[in-house]
Amino acid sequence: MNGTAGFGSGFFATMATILSHAFIIAVGCLVLTAIVFYVIDITQTQHTIRRNYPVIGRFRYFFEKLGEFFRQYFFSMDREEMPFNRAQRSWVYRASKNIDNTQPFGSTRDNDREGHVIFANAAFAVLDEEATEPEAIVYGPYCRQPYVTNSLFNISGMSYGAISKPAVQALSRGAAKAGCWMCTGEGGLSDYHLEGNCDIVFQIGTAKYGVRDAEGQYSEEKLRAVANRPQVKMIELKLAQGAKPGKGGILPGVKVTPEIARIRGIAVGEDSISPNRHRDIGNNEELLDRIAWLREFTGKPVGIKTVLGDERWLEGFLASVTARGAVHAPDFITLDSADGGTGAAPMTLMDDVGLGLHESLPLLVDKLVEHGLRERIRVICSGKLINPTDVAWALCVGADAINNARGFMFSLGCIQALQCNKNTCPTGITTHDPKLQRGLVTSDKAERVANYQKNMIKEISIIAHSCGAKNPRQLSREHARMVLSPSSSISLQDYYRRRSQ
Ligand SMILES: Cc1cc2nc3c(=O)[nH]c(=O)nc-3n(C[C@H](O)[C@H](O)[C@H](O)COP(=O)(O)O)c2cc1C
Repeated sequence: MNGTAGFGSGFFATMATILSHAFIIAVGCLVLTAIVFYVIDITQTQHTIRRNYPVIGRFRYFFEKLGEFFRQYFFSMDREEMPFNRAQRSWVYRASKNIDNTQPFGSTRDNDREGHVIFANAAFAVLDEEATEPEAIVYGPYCRQPYVTNSLFNISGMSYGAISKPAVQALSRGAAKAGCWMCTGEGGLSDYHLEGNCDIVFQIGTAKYGVRDAEGQYSEEKLRAVANRPQVKMIELKLAQGAKPGKGGILPGVKVTPEIARIRGIAVGEDSISPNRHRDIGNNEELLDRIAWLREFTGKPVGIKTVLGDERWLEGFLASVTARGAVHAPDFITLDSADGGTGAAPMTLMDDVGLGLHESLPLLVDKLVEHGLRERIRVICSGKLINPTDVAWALCVGADAINNARGFMFSLGCIQALQCNKNTCPTGITTHDPKLQRGLVTSDKAERVANYQKNMIKEISIIAHSCGAKNPRQLSREHARMVLSPSSSISLQDYYRRRSQ
């Protein structure tokens, strides 16, 4: 007994001595490190804060970094963050998981705010059994292979490169399940886009990735190969993108893997920066020539993607179209909002260049009506239309279809970590690091993509039925109202008519 007790107390005494020595050494090391940092900070000349507040000033960077991650969980209110607040994101997350998307108690939204859009419910809503499917429409009635679809809500261009392989795979499979199209973005067509067998809109950016020769000109052979794919339904010539009008795509070298370089036709590991304009398109006539050539060569509908800035351009462009005849018009215009998303763009362009969709969409639709081209040129639009009320607004104003990028990123699990321009996206969506991609399980996320798309259509249909329209395509400007003050609102029909007078 005594022997055991002796052993026990000896053991604990030795442990206590070791621990107290370890503690003294650790404290010593800490003090020593602090002294070293103190001397470094006080003598360096680059950082004011560290020079004035040695050692402690270093914590500023640490807390700033932590803020990026934690402010959305602890400090921001539901309707506060940018670009998307928690309420907007949560709707997408719930829709994607196909879980209950009802809310308790009452709205947390400030509905009296000027500029807010509300919908005008009818006295007698459309009964569920009276509801109809959205009518199909034709894109490119004059080309050899017109595209007929009733899809209202589709996946906007995000290049393979800006987003990862599993992200492209999940989007492709999800789009096929939901029955919507997926735009490739400007990075070319990969096998991953084709994997789900969904409808594809092939985008040609200013660098013509995927259809370019060694000199950066069109490669007819590559273009023919793309056009021959039955999944490719339309061609979208990208003039500009809302987040960076007048600037080409930017893919940092760290994201240019050998596979991406092969698909795009560029060098591995080097920054992939497309020209800030199509070199072969410098005016409206050249644009219409290029559209005609692409349509003739591919046999498919050809449209343009742009963001509106100088509104006089639109007038001139439509006048050129009318002069040539409606047959020569672009088959669609994809109108992007100035506050659209991007993998990477300069903040200056992102924040302050181009018109937002709330101004440009009614303008475009009205100009098309004025020129008698409303039925000929289909209007697709994009820009923060991630919740049903946003999409319903665009349909009321006159859009034929809506494209969405970041909403679908949320459906893939995006947490708005704002790291798309690095290779460090924590959700595997915009990184090519296999360790980070591991979490993005394609089969599961494809289901979520499809759920998001389907629940979007379901809820805009609910808005339509409440307004007395049998399906979302029948929504019109009379169905929505703009709030002018807490005690007044005006129908969009009257609002835009007054504005144009
Ligand atoms: C990661 C990322 C990559 C994108 N890549 C492209 C692209 O290659 N081509 C393009 O026209 N737009 C690109 N966009 C812009 C989107 O297609 C879309 O126009 C814009 O984000 C607005 O839609 P949203 O608000 O629904 O995201 C990209 C956007 C994101 C977020």
